[in-house]
Amino acid sequence: MMKRLAALLVLGTAVAGVASAEAPAEDPTAKLYAQKCASCHGKDGKGAPAMAKMFKVDIALLDLVDEATLKKKDEALDALTAKGINKMPAYAGKLKAEEISALTKYFRSLAPAKPKG
Ligand code: HEC
Repeated sequence: MMKRLAALLVLGTAVAGVASAEAPAEDPTAKLYAQKCASCHGKDGKGAPAMAKMFKVDIALLDLVDEATLKKKDEALDALTAKGINKMPAYAGKLKAEEISALTKYFRSLAPAKPKG
């Protein structure tokens, strides 16, 4: 009886291990960022140079991990994403409030641990 239980446990763990190796649990916010934001703000949050050129904006405006952006409060950044600003599109009707605040936390997490300078 105990042996069977142990065997089942081992089997269960092995199956779970295989499943997670095949389909890594992807962070839905990371996916959302990649789909909706990375084209302009870059995968690393530092801004996409091609977009800066196209929009004729300073790359610093597209940088979400610079000091100027990071020192803003979460609520302020959520509001900027929701309402848009200048060439930044508004996402209020397209994303849920929870998704927007998750995105703010997500791009904050892209920032290097220690700011330079
Ligand atoms: C079409 C290009 C484009 C896309 C897509 C885009 N942004 Fe932006 N974003 C901009 C531009 C341009 C600015 C700078 C606006 C300004 O201040 O003139 C900006 C600014 C911002 C700011 C303000 C940063 C600061 O320092 O105040 C936040 C926050 C932001 N974007 C978040 C997002 C998020 C989150 C997404 C994805 C849901 C996203 N953006 C998608 C173009 C884009």
